[in-house]
Amino acid sequence: MRTAFFNTKRYDERSFTEVNAAYGHKLTFFEPRLTPDTASLASGFPAVCVFINDEVGEETLRAIAPALTGQGATAGTQLIALRCAGYNNVNLKIAQELGIKVVRVPAYSPYAVAEHAVGLIMALNRKLYRAYNRVRDDNFALDGLLGFDLHGKTVGVVGTGKIGQCFAQIMNGFGCKILAYDVRQNSACIAMGVTYVELPVLLKQSDIVSLHCPLLPSTHHIINAESLQQFKPGAMLINTSRGGLIDTLAVIQAIKSGQIGYFGIDVYEREGNLFFEDLSDTVIQDDTFQLLQSFPNVVITAHQAFFTKEALHNIAKTTLSNISDVEAGRDCLNEVKVV
Ligand code: NAI
Repeated sequence: MRTAFFNTKRYDERSFTEVNAAYGHKLTFFEPRLTPDTASLASGFPAVCVFINDEVGEETLRAIAPALTGQGATAGTQLIALRCAGYNNVNLKIAQELGIKVVRVPAYSPYAVAEHAVGLIMALNRKLYRAYNRVRDDNFALDGLLGFDLHGKTVGVVGTGKIGQCFAQIMNGFGCKILAYDVRQNSACIAMGVTYVELPVLLKQSDIVSLHCPLLPSTHHIINAESLQQFKPGAMLINTSRGGLIDTLAVIQAIKSGQIGYFGIDVYEREGNLFFEDLSDTVIQDDTFQLLQSFPNVVITAHQAFFTKEALHNIAKTTLSNISDVEAGRDCLNEVKVV
């Protein structure tokens, strides 16, 4: 199927081209993100492949959809293939109304994301980012690098799906006590000794809270000024899920007051204007982001939790197989439908 890839980097092109040898789709790679302004690039492509920060809202969808003109129906785009798990950037209702199918990659490596969340915990706790710079500067002093044993600490997991489960498994290995909150319980988590509690209890009792639920209207700003008051003073908050789960301004206040003692994120509410680009020559205009960067107890990575060789291979394989299913008129298990 002729597919226009938006928002692509060299590594996307490399992995998709390699895996496509087995699928034979016609792939065209575009660097720009899909937005209402770039939607015209999709013209003539029945399938469009997008990533996390492409804007697939109503305006974009109407611009790429098949349309009825004076000359009859134009082909337009009939498939949005997300090469990611989250689909909060797509207006599913409008897509359905316009007859555009949406497919995604529900899982490609839960290990990649869970392991990165643990990496953020280790970096923050043992202050590896400071230690690395100090040693390179021949400063071998330990003042300011004091950490804590993870063994015996309580870790709260919000969302125990595929990634939350892997994360809980790893933290279990450290000898942590695991609490979890989810709208439905995962029996594998219960079998490993995870205790499900309500969110306020989890926040109150956890030394570390890690977010692994999707961004939905019900989870938008699940961490806000009110819920931050329920945290253990000085607790660590980790977010590798979606930026919109956290009210960033409220978290900044909580960091300033000491309520949050460590903050590690791989995602940020307004990351669309920043992440995945080299902006090192520019002045960042996002004051909230810059303020966060200035705190010594904050570690930010730019949405790289998924970024492992295994994950890229699996993303390409599932995306191309989703496109093949739709092209052949088969039911696609990974179709996202309005609920
Ligand atoms: P999943 O669908 O397997 O699990 C999500 C879990 O969240 C489910 O158990 C679900 O019941 C739960 N949940 C739904 N609503 C909830 C609520 N209101 N409160 C608490 N829990 C709720 O998804 P998976 O694969 O574990 O991914 C989780 C999230 O991780 C994705 O939605 C995505 O946003 C994020 N992600 C981030 C990546 C990164 O590179 N930083 C890469 C891949 C995913």
